Amino acid sequence: MKRFAVFASGNGSNLQAIIDALKKKKIAAELCVVVSDNKEAFALTRALKAGIPTVVVDPKAFKDRTAMDRAIIKELKAFHVDFVVLAGYMRILSPDFVKTFRHKILNIHPALLPSFKGAHAIKDAFTSGVSSTGVTVHLVDEKVDHGPVIAQEALKIKKADTLKTLEARIHRLEHAMYPKIVDRFARKLSL
Ligand code: GRF
Repeated sequence: MKRFAVFASGNGSNLQAIIDALKKKKIAAELCVVVSDNKEAFALTRALKAGIPTVVVDPKAFKDRTAMDRAIIKELKAFHVDFVVLAGYMRILSPDFVKTFRHKILNIHPALLPSFKGAHAIKDAFTSGVSSTGVTVHLVDEKVDHGPVIAQEALKIKKADTLKTLEARIHRLEHAMYPKIVDRFARKLSL
């Protein structure tokens, strides 16, 4: 069984969806560690509650991104991690990190990439007036919100949608999609 880490900086609702799917044996892999760059992240509470080890890495303790990611790589090696699942991790990974886990880092983005990159994708889509947006899961490369798309689902923006309702609908879609894609990815890696 492949082993993976989830990286999260905040709420961790996608982490929770993954934990719930694991409990139901819907993901053929083992979540062995949750990594955060934010000791206040609610994602850490979720991990602790599920009995999953956590690693907190304080960005201020390192001279640069490369040094920080080196420390994370060391931790991941100790946990024998095969692949990495980014779930609301608000940091750009160093080229070193991407190279170490080349084609083994997944990210979820709340828009249809390459549209609406960045940290405010739902709001940007909503205010731009597009008639649909969606969710993308992709492999991470050296560029931000970039890399081979492995799954994409569209969602129509309804006339009655407010930013709040659209956010809720996007998150629901993410929570349905991500555990499935993680499972599919883990099974492919195991072949
Ligand atoms: C999600 O919308 C994800 O697409 C984006 O960051 C958000 C994280 O939410 N990358 P959560 O922490 O999983 O609740």
